[in-house]
Amino acid sequence: MIQTILSGKSKPIIVGGVLAYLNDNLPIEERVKDALSRMTLEEKTRLSYADGRFSTPGCARLGIPGLMYSDGPHGVRAEICWNSWDYAGWTNDSCTAFPALTCLASTWNPVLSKSYGVAIGEEALFRNKSVLLGPGVNIYRTPLNGRNFEYLGEDPYLAARMCVPYIQGVQENGVAACVKHYALNNQELWRNHIDVQVSDRALYEIYLPAFKAAVMEGKTWTIMGAYNKVRGTHAAHNKLLNNDILKGEWGFDGCVVTDWGAAHDTYEAAMYGLDLELGTYTNGLTSNSDLGYNDYYLGDAYLRMIKDGKIPMEVVEEKAARVLRLIFRTSMNRNKGFGAMANENHEETAYRIATEGIVLLKNESRFDKKPLLPIQKGAYKRILVVGDNAIRNLMMGGGSSELKPKKVITPLDALKEEFGDCITFSQGYVAGRPMFDRADVIPQSVIDSLYSAAIEEAKQADLVIFLGGLNKNYQQDCEGDDRKTFELPFEQNRLIKGILDVNQKMVLVLTSGNAVDMPWIEKVPSLIQSWYLGSIGGKALADVLIGEINPSGKLPFSYPVRLEDCPAHFYGEISYPGDSIRQEYKEDILVGYRWYDTKKIKPLFPFGYGLSYTEFQYGKPVVSATELKAGESLEVKVTVKNTGKVAGKEIVQLYIGDEKCSVLRPVKELKDFYKVELQPGEEQEVAFTVERDDLTFFDDERHEWIAEPGRFKIYIGRSSEDIEGTATFMYCD
Ligand code: BGC
Repeated sequence: MIQTILSGKSKPIIVGGVLAYLNDNLPIEERVKDALSRMTLEEKTRLSYADGRFSTPGCARLGIPGLMYSDGPHGVRAEICWNSWDYAGWTNDSCTAFPALTCLASTWNPVLSKSYGVAIGEEALFRNKSVLLGPGVNIYRTPLNGRNFEYLGEDPYLAARMCVPYIQGVQENGVAACVKHYALNNQELWRNHIDVQVSDRALYEIYLPAFKAAVMEGKTWTIMGAYNKVRGTHAAHNKLLNNDILKGEWGFDGCVVTDWGAAHDTYEAAMYGLDLELGTYTNGLTSNSDLGYNDYYLGDAYLRMIKDGKIPMEVVEEKAARVLRLIFRTSMNRNKGFGAMANENHEETAYRIATEGIVLLKNESRFDKKPLLPIQKGAYKRILVVGDNAIRNLMMGGGSSELKPKKVITPLDALKEEFGDCITFSQGYVAGRPMFDRADVIPQSVIDSLYSAAIEEAKQADLVIFLGGLNKNYQQDCEGDDRKTFELPFEQNRLIKGILDVNQKMVLVLTSGNAVDMPWIEKVPSLIQSWYLGSIGGKALADVLIGEINPSGKLPFSYPVRLEDCPAHFYGEISYPGDSIRQEYKEDILVGYRWYDTKKIKPLFPFGYGLSYTEFQYGKPVVSATELKAGESLEVKVTVKNTGKVAGKEIVQLYIGDEKCSVLRPVKELKDFYKVELQPGEEQEVAFTVERDDLTFFDDERHEWIAEPGRFKIYIGRSSEDIEGTATFMYCD
């Protein structure tokens, strides 16, 4: 085959055979080298910044396509206009809404995470996307963070285990995952400039492990630099994060992408590891002037600096090579399929994740010594459903993760399907439009009349199912700001208490991505934590309520009794939210249960907690040896038996504590878990392996992971608090 192309100097040349960069039988690195050898300096630098809201160019002259991006992380977002944030109004871009990542984390089921990744990757592929902007793996540090619902909880080990299969699943489709937001973007308030101060130890032990696993195990092809600053420099072009750790220590060969508008300096962006600049505005990222993409930091200013000799050519070549590698892996990958969109398989995947993520928090046997859940069909003539979340499309709002789902099954739809005419609905409270918290402009008379109507209905009901919680309105579970208070919004506490005063038979279902204050907790007999459950969420929830599905989710973060108990809030404003300029993570490594355990503060619900409609009995853990040497491993076995009447799934958790150490360590840390499915009466042995790496802490001074010889304790638990058995062993160097 003869091809005619223009050389770098724009003279026509004839090349015999297939051009090396187009030949997908050759290794990617050879193709990258060949493409680079044919490109001008201008073409190489042009690879690195946007040419639309969600696109970056390739090299049109050489027939190298660009990259198309989409949010992420719970579904493929509806098309946005090329040059504005308006939706483009396409009629063929409705997706499957998958459950939020908090729900995925609550399943503690990596197999489901893989199917999540495969399915969302197929949808991205079908929509011709090269990069899917997810998953989010920032650690849950405070229940006020507006974006916790997009992340995988408070524990670095759980987040790491759950993000790896998601990434692998997405990328099997020839679509890049984009792990975000690297790093320390743990709050939305002041996210564009807050300067996070954190010790190396907390960075390595708590905030980086999920990113590290995403890179080293998941082999993610892209990672998104966060908005905030870290130790004085913006994260998106931060030498420590990008050059030293990500590309140095972890050997990342993919692209660092900015969060939208997260670059702030050309020299830093060039030198400190940024490869692709994307943004919200055109002209210099501050305004919407005409077609000013070349005003980006990696646009004309970058080219000028290169020509002035301020940026070494190796840097330019390396950056361009990374983008080309990404293009060959995705948009120019001829081995990928065509994907699929909003089909039954994807709905089934979304449904299964939703059912396994729902967490049963309370189910007391108060009425005739029986719990209210599961609800027996035919047991109640009049079931009152109360609450805005019973009817709300919870895929709307929330910021960049907003979705346009093809199907939405609300809880009320699904409950009516099950119970027919027995269901009556009373809204109870008014929650405002998505993105705008308009509670303050709603006349008190409206609020009061909804309240009174619900109370009157509740008096007549045999059972009340309350469906409340947060929603995706601004300053709730939403990007761009944090929650202003720990309380439930829209006077829900008043309503819940009011209903309980007239009818105690209440099943309370909270939908949120965050812990909330629960002043009525003692009075509520049955409580469910439901997350943003996606397209088929209503059915998943109804199936749990009626016992068609036995709940098996466990909390991926701790619920404090009071906000002040929470480690990020304990040290006052400098720790959260900071003084608007700087912030110090004073709790250091003691995040989540590590804090509650070590400081002996009782949480309302501990990390790893969740009930079932059956019961599980644990045997005594047996350790294969009393001594562990570096390079060897030991085995921990424990039997678990389903002693109840229905089949169920239990998440067996293994924590390890260092009995004596030269530095402060948490009482214990999660090191493994396994979700086991058991029929009534069935017993199974669960085996875990423990190695030196499970015993280490990060030594700031030596900059290495240390395991100190001595006694370690293994805790086998059904949650971080409910420990069923322990065993000890000695570690010898
Ligand atoms: C968010 C990212 C998102 C991007 C594109 C930013 O505001 O922080 O998570 O991927 O917008 O929508």
